[in-house]
Amino acid sequence: MQISLEKSLVKNLMVHSHYERYRSMGEDIMQSIRDKTCPGNDFLGWVDLPSSLKSEELERINEVAQNLRKISEVVVVVGIGGSYLGARAVIESQKSAFKSDGCEVLYAGHQLSPGYLTELSQYLEGKKWSIIVISKSGTTTEPAIAFRYLRNMLTSRFGETAMKERVVAITDSSKGALRKLADANGLQSFVIPDDVGGRFSVFTPVGLLPIAVAGFDIKQLIQGAKQMEEQVWSDKKNNIALDYAAIRNVLYQNGNTTEVLVNYHHKFHFIAEWWKQLFGESEGKDGKGIFPASVDLTTDLHSMGQYIQDGKRNLFETVVKFENTNAKVEQIGHDDENLDNLNYLEGKSMDFVNKNALEGTMLAHNSGGVPNLMLKIENDGIDNIGGLLYFFMITCAISGLMLQVNPFNQPGVEDYKRNMFALLQKPGFEEKYKELQILRKE
Ligand code: PA5
Repeated sequence: MQISLEKSLVKNLMVHSHYERYRSMGEDIMQSIRDKTCPGNDFLGWVDLPSSLKSEELERINEVAQNLRKISEVVVVVGIGGSYLGARAVIESQKSAFKSDGCEVLYAGHQLSPGYLTELSQYLEGKKWSIIVISKSGTTTEPAIAFRYLRNMLTSRFGETAMKERVVAITDSSKGALRKLADANGLQSFVIPDDVGGRFSVFTPVGLLPIAVAGFDIKQLIQGAKQMEEQVWSDKKNNIALDYAAIRNVLYQNGNTTEVLVNYHHKFHFIAEWWKQLFGESEGKDGKGIFPASVDLTTDLHSMGQYIQDGKRNLFETVVKFENTNAKVEQIGHDDENLDNLNYLEGKSMDFVNKNALEGTMLAHNSGGVPNLMLKIENDGIDNIGGLLYFFMITCAISGLMLQVNPFNQPGVEDYKRNMFALLQKPGFEEKYKELQILRKE
């Protein structure tokens, strides 16, 4: 597994002494994470998860996954935020864009859009299907509503025993409505450790069970994460997590308050979605934080590209480059008439064109005043994806602590919930309801 950080296109836009200051602050921060003395220190269970995961636990996850695969054509993963994005990020990075490997994984409970569940239920009609329901708190509204809808459908289709055979719950060991429901119905279940928050939970059953159900090798994923864990904790000098966290903070202080994660790989979209949640929810608080955005290139060069090249200069980019793809390489063929003027590319691969687009775009954006970092990854194998996710999590923790926020809480998320509950007239929210009625009239 190899991931490296290329910094040549940020150096000219950074004051070196500022970088050195953040870099050395980062070393102290890593020590405080190790000693569990940093803010949010009761949520550090993910830090050594790759190296401490027991093989029996992975075996049990694989066993339950195999059973679900045997009895299901489709498994619906019900969850939102950190209880959904990690699994989807890894699955989408590995699966074919056009077909599933035996058992299809679909998602629900990640929004409230009307019509989605109806369309899902139509798609499931006549198929064999099961549910993995994931919620750490066990009380999140979106997945709770979807789970109520889907479990009613499931029992009317497969009978009462379906709850035991076709539903797996992943939740807290003792607290929350989902734990009560799981225990009352004798559901198969896994526990989310108390000291691992949602967006840091991809290497717990939250991520691992759906990934295994989709047919991917969770041992390889963990192996890659473990290698990255060893790499970032063993060498302070050549430490890409410290480098990336320090550079992000220098750029932020320079006024580059939006980071755009850029990819040129059609399977990367959901890793970027996971990354936005990780950094957005971890750093965006107390009036501070880099705004995490993402683009899929070259697609978005024909939309967001204009803004990046030429719009407000508060951006920096982190470009993800896969050195080799596992894909079969398409070659550009010959055309006698050459009406499309493409014969100059005859015999060249799509990968060659894509890489030159990447290089040309980085140089263009950099001359347009956008600092560019590049993460080079050997290939898109699942072990490298495991390493990349660990790298982003540890960088996010260090970077958030450099910003002097607690990266492991999300107090701001509660505000929308309070208002939504009040407007829905949930018992206990009567005062808030009155307050909002006054605001509505104003
Ligand atoms: O990172 C987080 O903690 C959040 O994004 C949660 O994962 C998300 O809100 C879902 O919460 P829960 O798993 O309690 O349903």
